[in-house]
Amino acid sequence: MTGRLGRIRRVSGPLVEATGLDGVTMADLVELGPARLPAEAVAIRDEVVTLQAYEYTGGLRPGDVAISRGEPLSAGLGPGLLGGVFDGLLRSLVGAPEYLFPGRREEPAATTLWHFVPEAKEGDEAWPGVRIGTVDGVGLEHRVLVPPGVAGRLDWVADEGPHTLAEPVARVGEAAIALQTRWPIRRPRPVLERLNGGVPLFTGQRVLDLLYPVAQGSAAAVPGGFGTGKTMLLQQIAKWSDADAIVYVGCGERGNELADTLQELRELDDPRRGGRLADRTVIIANTSNMPMMAREASIYSGLTVAEYLRDMGYHTVVIADSTSRWAEARREFASRTRQLPAEEGYPADLPSSLAAFYERAGRFRTLSGAEASVTVIGAVSPAGGDMTEPVTAHTQRFVRCLWTLDRDLAYARHYPSVSWRGSYSRDAAVIAGWYTGRGDPEWVRRRARVLALLAEADRLAELAELVGVSALPSQERMVLLVGQLIRRAVLQQSATSANDATCAMPKQAALVDAVLTVHDRSVQLVSDGVSATAMEKVDFTPLLRAREDSGSSDVDAVIRRREELLGVLDGLT
Ligand SMILES: Nc1ncnc2c1ncn2[C@@H]1O[C@H](COP(=O)(O)OP(=O)(O)OP(=O)(O)O)[C@@H](O)[C@H]1O
Ligand SMILES: [Mg+2]
Repeated sequence: MTGRLGRIRRVSGPLVEATGLDGVTMADLVELGPARLPAEAVAIRDEVVTLQAYEYTGGLRPGDVAISRGEPLSAGLGPGLLGGVFDGLLRSLVGAPEYLFPGRREEPAATTLWHFVPEAKEGDEAWPGVRIGTVDGVGLEHRVLVPPGVAGRLDWVADEGPHTLAEPVARVGEAAIALQTRWPIRRPRPVLERLNGGVPLFTGQRVLDLLYPVAQGSAAAVPGGFGTGKTMLLQQIAKWSDADAIVYVGCGERGNELADTLQELRELDDPRRGGRLADRTVIIANTSNMPMMAREASIYSGLTVAEYLRDMGYHTVVIADSTSRWAEARREFASRTRQLPAEEGYPADLPSSLAAFYERAGRFRTLSGAEASVTVIGAVSPAGGDMTEPVTAHTQRFVRCLWTLDRDLAYARHYPSVSWRGSYSRDAAVIAGWYTGRGDPEWVRRRARVLALLAEADRLAELAELVGVSALPSQERMVLLVGQLIRRAVLQQSATSANDATCAMPKQAALVDAVLTVHDRSVQLVSDGVSATAMEKVDFTPLLRAREDSGSSDVDAVIRRREELLGVLDGLT
């Protein structure tokens, strides 16, 4: 025990005052009472240290011990993260989904044995990022690296065999390297450099991949009013994106949703690696029924886990649902500590803490020399859909993609309800370059045409409301028609359909091309004298159903539907 011993003087909700903790510094971890509840030093004044407890403080009383650990709030990182469920401080919640009952918490099995396979030898040079060996486990290969801050010569490496998390498997001078390391969650883990350039993160969601793509290592936010489909969209990305690993932070949301997600991930096969999708996912649960204060930490724990996996060379995605609940935890805390509130009661550092969250995203050269990334995606729940409220407004300053969910679309059961008016992707240009560089300039053309047609169709729809559709010229009626086709055949996507939940890029392209080809032919036909009314009466159902009726990568089925439909259209002349 490195800590110093102090005494609790006062307990007020999650705020605890202690004395006798000499040498404690801000953000240090202090353990409180016989149950050793974790708390963080948030104010130091004379001899009195104010601590924010991360668990219910019921049972604590003045006179109880307060032990300083002499380190900032940190998380244990090691094998066993993938496939696991953890609380906001990254302590294992064994037995999930029973984790819904707070208090059933256990330390990550300290006695579990992990099979270590050495790669480095005694005498090898060691510096941060050098591979020492691997650990057998589920999902991705777990790589044991020399941690930041350790350099020299490897004096000893353990033989192949079973080890607990705390046992050293290598030694560099004085430093023992165990399977589990600790890292202060609020501090970004070091990298060699930040990299530019954009490789798209495939999400399997057409509206995102085709119109508002996100690059690996970028940051995106999903603002949406109550029930507009934020959680569903984030869960779809967790299931189907082509990241190596997903860290899903359920932050103040309903526990049963997270339990369902976990159950589904356990049942679904990973299409790319085999195994279960759960094997590449880390779930951090701080649901609405768990102590609010750990919610504040859960987001940083999630980022830290993602960076730890990134350092092994993996592309990771951190999903936070919802950053608004996280901001509310900060607001609650600010009011308890009587900080001067800024906008709507949020603490004045709300913008900088949001920036610090999204800025940990990036594409990097890791200490091992690998190219790897952390993509950050956060849901935002503006009360009443008010996009000017502080969390939503500030978030927009720090993300590169905004996927705004539209209440009217959700109400009309157009899912995912990503608005094509209120969304943007600042990654689109660099991703266009990526597609073009890979010999696919069509992606850019498709995107430009679809966006232009959607905008034109919206404009005409407003006009048609005033003057009636039949008053519009035939060519414009064809634009209205293609607007509907784009929405229903391409942009709508059912999360619950086995065929449609995800969509491979070639099928996405085939669906767009089918709609655009049908549109071009319709325009041609009306200019050849076919009436717009006749065109509007055509049964487009086969095209509309192509996304759900054929497999998620079945391009041929889409092409067949397209050809059939073109045949029908040609029959109109
Ligand atoms: N892609 C989709 N496919 C099918 N149904 C969907 C889709 N997205 C949303 N829904 C429907 O909308 C409902 C609400 O979605 P969801 O729970 O994701 O909304 P939310 O924005 O997270 O809500 P809250 O504000 O309560 O967190 C779902 O239960 C589902 O019925
Ligand atoms: Mg939700």
